[in-house]
This record gives sequence, structure tokens and C-alpha cells, in this order.
Amino acid sequence: MPKKLKIKIAPSVLSADFSCLAREIHRIESAGADMLHIDVMDGNFVPNITIGPVVIKDIRKITKLPLDVHLMIKRPELLIDNFIAAGSDMITLHIETINASSFRLQAARLEKKNIKVGISLNPATPLSKIKPVLNIVDFVLVMSVYPGFPGQKFMASVLPKIKHLRAIFKGDISVDGGINQDTARQVVWAGANVLAAGSYIFKAKNYHKVIRGLKCLT
Ligand code: DX5
Ligand code: ZN
Repeated sequence: MPKKLKIKIAPSVLSADFSCLAREIHRIESAGADMLHIDVMDGNFVPNITIGPVVIKDIRKITKLPLDVHLMIKRPELLIDNFIAAGSDMITLHIETINASSFRLQAARLEKKNIKVGISLNPATPLSKIKPVLNIVDFVLVMSVYPGFPGQKFMASVLPKIKHLRAIFKGDISVDGGINQDTARQVVWAGANVLAAGSYIFKAKNYHKVIRGLKCLT
């Protein structure tokens, strides 16, 4: 395992209990989360609808955790300002939703506002698609499931992609989908250093224990 990489944990709030969201976020913050992963779905790019800028704006008021906003929406350039205004600290766009030159424009705008920029790619999308923008992103979010729903099975077929990416990219590599203690070990071995995990963390009784386990993989 590449020891020098400090592992960061990004719990995906989509698996939290939304009837007591503030309490869930406070619990996850004191359990040692490094950021809060927020899955935004539009019912178009993915077959599900989740939360938007209105909710993110209120989440911003109750936590100091960096808000890691994962946009799974078509035409993200039309709505990105709303997510900036809502208080996002990190914004990820999918390469399947935007061409490289429009992405560069959006990335430059985010950088000016001190918002970290990420690019994400679906399991079937080859690394070659994101190569033209790799030099301008802060991090890459590798999908290890098809986006749309929490609780799906990790796709081990993305491991070679993570390995290849680590060989050519120095920034943070985050992996999203089906992460648990076992799959976390596999993706960290492959070169990832940020774990976006929903059901594995929020279904646990003790958030602190499960986050500590993910940070200390052996
Ligand atoms: C998938 C989302 C993920 C998901 C993770 O579409 O982007 O962030 O909620 O959930 P788990 O960890 O349960 O696969
Ligand atoms: Zn996500």
C-alpha cells in the first residue's frame, strides 16, 4: 500500500437519515470526516433526483466541513453558479456532461472563487476522456458504480484505471461507489487517497469507529 498517501474520508450524505439531517452531519463531523460528499442528481443524467442548492445552502450554515459537491446533472454550466452561491468548497463535474473547452472555462471560474475543481468519470468512460483536463483539476473522482443510487456493488474493473491514473496524476484521487473496508483497501492499493462512502458509513452504529477503520487500512 502506498504509505505516503494520507487517506481522507468523504461520507456521502445521501445515505444519512434526512429526517434528522443536521444531527447526522454533526455526528459525522465529530466522527472525523474530512469533508461532506453531497450527491446532486437531476433525474436526467442519472435515473434519480436528490438534493439541490437550497439544501446545500442550509447545510453550509451548520457545518465547518468542506462541502464536496458531486454534480450528476446534464448541462452543469447552466446551474453551476447556484452551487457556488450555496457555499460549495469543491465542485465535481462529469466528463460525460461537458466538453473539455467548456470545462476549462468553468474550472477557471471556480479557481477564481477558491473552489476546488474535480472531474469525474463513469466506470465505462476511459481515462483518455479526462486527459485533456487533468492539468487543471485539483482532483479526480473515479466512479466505481454507475451513478444514481447508494448501496451498489463496487466494480473491481475500475482498479486498473485508478492505477494508471495514479501513475500520471499527482493530485487527490477519490473513489465513489460501493466503498467498504475491503474495497477501500483495494482502491488505496491502486493509488486512491480519498474515499467517498455512503451506506457503509451511515448504516454503521458507530460512525467514529467505521471512519477510523477506513483511515487505518492494513
Ligand atoms: C452514486 C453516488 C455515490 C453514492 C455512494 O451515484 O455518487 O456517492 O451515494 O454510496 P455508496 O457508498 O453506498 O455506494
Ligand atoms: Zn457521489
